[in-house]
Amino acid sequence: MPPEDARPLLLFDSGIGGLSVLRAVRAALPNAPIVYVADNGGFPYGTKSEAEIAARVPALLGRLAERYRPRLICIACNTASTIALAGVRAALDLPVVGTVPAIKPAAEVSKTRAIGVLGTDATVRQPYVDDLSARFAGDCLVLRHGSARLVELAEAALRGLPTPDADYRTALDGLLEQDGGDRVDVIALACTHFPLVADRLAAVAPRPITFVDGAGGIARRIAFLTGDQSWPAAPAPGLAVFTAPLDVPDGLRRSLAGFGLETIEAL
Ligand code: DGL
Repeated sequence: MPPEDARPLLLFDSGIGGLSVLRAVRAALPNAPIVYVADNGGFPYGTKSEAEIAARVPALLGRLAERYRPRLICIACNTASTIALAGVRAALDLPVVGTVPAIKPAAEVSKTRAIGVLGTDATVRQPYVDDLSARFAGDCLVLRHGSARLVELAEAALRGLPTPDADYRTALDGLLEQDGGDRVDVIALACTHFPLVADRLAAVAPRPITFVDGAGGIARRIAFLTGDQSWPAAPAPGLAVFTAPLDVPDGLRRSLAGFGLETIEAL
């Protein structure tokens, strides 16, 4: 029998947002060994410039690839993907799967033909978003809003800290109070942090709104790209890596364990 292939999948985000992608990856590939990297040393990405992200992410992923020898890297972060995916692919000799704002799935289900894109400031200003809107939502009104606060709320929620309803409502209003916002029936959660608090957003929405994200599509893509590879016979405990020293609070430790990340280390 060939030796077991224990090479992990490496999922990367600025913080805990990529856990929303990990959830889908685990459902598709339950025995995949996982290294989950949170770049807390560079967090947050959404308020940084394109130049800062383009300089930081490929170099960091190069170090991480050397250290953890993954079979594939998933940039589980819209901000890093929309800005640095090409640079990472050019720098690494490994399959790299990125995260695309879920504008296509949003347009597919919108009945009112008015959709919202909720992401970070850095993501919603990318030409990539114009391109996706033109290609897949040409007949829709596409409104965008960047919210750094919603990223903080998701980080806090995963630490088990209380987060106020009013702050979720403010983030939604950033979209819904724009011209035409009263017609929006679907919102693409274009930051991987946001699906982690989708239930909170739904609870404060002024009317039923469908939230969509890209996690399922990313998991299917990873399963496709690794389709001819073998996996360990049983699920292994995953590893969470932080790029800067962090005193991991109990609430966060529990959340990470809930996603199968039992071991925590600093880079
Ligand atoms: N989770 C990230 C994204 O998908 C970014 C959060 C941040 O660091 O601002 O865009």
